[in-house]
Amino acid sequence: MTIIVFDSGIGGLTVLREARVLMPDHRFVYVGDDAAFPYGDWEEGALIERMLGVFDDLLARYSPVMIIVACNTASTLILPHLRERYDIPIVGTVPAIKLAAELTSSGQVSVLATPGTVQRDYTRSLISEFASRVNVRLVGSENLAAIADRFMLTGQVDPDAINDEIKDCFQDNLGARTDIVVLACTHYPFLTNIMRRLAPWPVDWLNPAEAIARHARSLLPPPGSVTNVQDVAEFTAGVPKAELLRLLGGFGLQVAK
Ligand code: DGL
Repeated sequence: MTIIVFDSGIGGLTVLREARVLMPDHRFVYVGDDAAFPYGDWEEGALIERMLGVFDDLLARYSPVMIIVACNTASTLILPHLRERYDIPIVGTVPAIKLAAELTSSGQVSVLATPGTVQRDYTRSLISEFASRVNVRLVGSENLAAIADRFMLTGQVDPDAINDEIKDCFQDNLGARTDIVVLACTHYPFLTNIMRRLAPWPVDWLNPAEAIARHARSLLPPPGSVTNVQDVAEFTAGVPKAELLRLLGGFGLQVAK
């Protein structure tokens, strides 16, 4: 019973981690479309076409029982297309704006995402449907996904560069200060501790990974018989470099040939 977890790179590993905890009896195939990273800069039509090509190939090779699109930038575009095309549950990752609107005390919420995600109609309709009473600031970050990548692969981190990307999240409207920052890109949770240290005041950094995993589990019956299978990873740019192989090894993933 194979589940595909898909992202433009390594960000979806933050969702895979939770999904494996909750669904230990399934086999996971992690797919990073790193040949096309970052998705945040792509034009919408071209990105949809690209992703459908990648998914057609994956479905033919793995016959999964579910796809988890562990990428906000992809999910805000591709979910209806995948649901129409494939007859299996498709689980998406969309900005946790509804939850943020329920949790905020100050009424000031920021959504930190890629430029693609902040521009999407999907994101705007989440705000008008679920957060019309809340002041939502959309903060599109050009570089944070790549910064998270570098940090995870090499350990290198430049706090000033991170600060530049997140500083617009903090608003103070006559004493009502931002109290929730929605992490609306799956790469960002890797940087949570650093962002917490850089924040001018404490906020909740909302990471939806566990909620996504819980939702995914609710859609699948437990597998009847459990076989001892190895979770694997594959990347569209080809065989990963040594540092990525090391990271994947740390997640217990074998690289598919
Ligand atoms: N991990 C992706 C997301 O959740 C974005 C990174 C990219 O720009 O490709 O939005």
